[in-house]
Amino acid sequence: MTNLKTGYAFSTRLSGVGSAFPARRLSNDELSKTVETSNEWILERTGIRERRISDPTNEDECNSSLGFAASKRALEMAGKSADEIDLIIYATCTPDTLIPSTACFLQKKLGASKAAAFDVNAACSGFIFGLSVADQFIRTGQAKTILVVGADVLSTFTNWQDRTSCILFGDGAGAAILERTEANASQRILSTHIGSDGTLWDLFHLPAGGSKMETTPEVLAQNLHKMQMKGKEIFKSAVRTLADYAAKAIESNQINLSQVDWLVPHQANLRIIEAVAKRLNFPMEKVLVNIDRYGNTSSATVPSAFDEAVRDGRIKKGQIILFDVFGAGLTYGSVLLRW
Ligand code: ACO
Repeated sequence: MTNLKTGYAFSTRLSGVGSAFPARRLSNDELSKTVETSNEWILERTGIRERRISDPTNEDECNSSLGFAASKRALEMAGKSADEIDLIIYATCTPDTLIPSTACFLQKKLGASKAAAFDVNAACSGFIFGLSVADQFIRTGQAKTILVVGADVLSTFTNWQDRTSCILFGDGAGAAILERTEANASQRILSTHIGSDGTLWDLFHLPAGGSKMETTPEVLAQNLHKMQMKGKEIFKSAVRTLADYAAKAIESNQINLSQVDWLVPHQANLRIIEAVAKRLNFPMEKVLVNIDRYGNTSSATVPSAFDEAVRDGRIKKGQIILFDVFGAGLTYGSVLLRW
């Protein structure tokens, strides 16, 4: 699905970003005390040194609280208050509860009483799906100010006995404020592309906990309430589709990849990121990486890596940024924007 910015009076610009992580660091060495692995193996095969893990007994570290902390920072950067938000789109596959949406918990925490609020589930691609939905609301004149959050607490659904997957994941949140601007403004979202392939649903899934499978004692005993993953297959598909969606963004805007100042890919494995950069012939010096410190935080990877680089001054106003993601579903997407 392609959405180029044509035929509308308005366009969308990102005016603020923020991120938040739980306090607890879990190092590779610590993990290797509970599963048969090592710092060397994890670092070499994934690029991850440590990840952050939420304390399930701490209300301040549940999904909506991490989203709240990230949102407050994004609002502050944008110079906006919560009562100016028309819509909250919360991208997550690990909601606080199935009912109600995590977006509603966030609305309450922010006191954003004017906002409509709903969740989007596109797993690790969620933030980009959220941006794409928000862009439609703004361009069609339905909303002026939208908060998009990408936040996940995967640690709750990680099988900590499975060394092939538990080494990868961490918890975190990222948020962005999107505002209405002139159709041809310099700083704006230039394009969004999203896509899905449901035939590959079983490469990454969580069997129980939905309406199809109750969490009975038998289900718990079989760990069916934990994520299941076919890592090798995902790896191959991820490299191919990340390169494809980067190319879609470039081609549809009729620019060269060399004009992109920063590539912000989903952080699932450093080797995936390096393989994509190689395939695109794009220099790694212009690729944002935070997987070493946070692991795969699902829908939070892109906004948190972006936020970090905005705040430390690497990303400058007017630069062209390419967000590029894949996730369970499978789902894919890219957003090209001028910051
Ligand atoms: N420590 C030590 N050894 C391990 C570990 C570990 N943690 N995990 C696997 N191994 C072993 C395997 O058992 C295997 O041993 P064998 O050769 O004796 O059979 C060997 O290491 C190699 O295993 P591979 O699976 O070939 O390792 P690979 O290099 O493919 O790395 C990994 C595995 C890290 C999972 C990689 O395939 C990957 O990152 N895939 C993508 C996963 C992903 O992105 N998931 C999320 C997608 S959706 C979303 O983002 C929510």
